[in-house]
Amino acid sequence: MSWILSNSLTFFQKFCINVLKCGPIPQHVAFIMDGNRRYAKQQQIDKQTAHSRGFDKLAETLQWCLELGIREVTMYAFSIENFKRSPEEVDALMNLAREKYARLMEEKDKLMAEGVRISVIGNLDLLPQDIRKSIAEAMIMTRNNNRLFLNVAMAYTARDEITTAIKEITNGVNVGVLDSEDIDEELLNHCLYTNRGHKIDVIIRTSGETRLSDFLLWQAGFVNIFTTNVLWPSFSIWQLLGMIFKYQRNYYELKNITDQIKVKELSIKKEIFLDKLVLYRMAILEQYTTVCS
Ligand code: FPP
Ligand code: MG
Repeated sequence: MSWILSNSLTFFQKFCINVLKCGPIPQHVAFIMDGNRRYAKQQQIDKQTAHSRGFDKLAETLQWCLELGIREVTMYAFSIENFKRSPEEVDALMNLAREKYARLMEEKDKLMAEGVRISVIGNLDLLPQDIRKSIAEAMIMTRNNNRLFLNVAMAYTARDEITTAIKEITNGVNVGVLDSEDIDEELLNHCLYTNRGHKIDVIIRTSGETRLSDFLLWQAGFVNIFTTNVLWPSFSIWQLLGMIFKYQRNYYELKNITDQIKVKELSIKKEIFLDKLVLYRMAILEQYTTVCS
């Protein structure tokens, strides 16, 4: 299945989406896509097929989010901890990723027409070289799109993300671009992988688990977390719309809290450092694309 689906919603689904769109819509929704292996057991299919159906659900969910006017979606596809699974399962997931990221380039026209910006967030050095190359090509190709930001977390954990940000800041201090007094919450926030996007409003986890599992720990300070017992490949538009409705009911209460959090302006020195960081990260991506497969 492709990443960007053409419109397959029923009249009634579109009607419900339009009703919800009269209220506040979250700008950024993150998904912990959990329950693929339990789905495999339940449906008596192999794990690989279940993960592949998990990808199909990711594509469907993206379409629902686009219709709803959600500007940014982050999907937890593979955590650093997932490398500890059996070599067969890790290989199967990597093969799925290989196939789907290669497909991204074939879908270039659709991605550009829909204005989708792809970012794969995580420690890309832990991924096989050829996958890294496809990811870097897709990220560079779509970097100026701005209708829908799609972040796929792969080889990701929040602790690793925060550690990487701290290392980058320390390096900034060591080379004299920053002083240690410049280090504050705002700066760290801007050094995370999600720095170019919208703040996260909602995290959705399927399969009945209520853990964050090392996902977006820093960013999750003030978000609505919704869970459902449904296993990821069975997640439906009705569960998503129900969660958006709950978000709308909580909206003003949470807004009152978050409005009190003052966002500090960045100093010129920090802006310079962050511009350098963007260039540095882009140079790494460019380097990944030059590797021969
Ligand atoms: C969690 O279910 C799911 C995963 C670890 C893999 C998720 C990956 C996809 C949906 C495909 C994404 C592919 C690309 C290319 C982005 P689980 O395996 O933990 O199942 P369980 O909770 O039932 O054990
Ligand atoms: Mg799981």
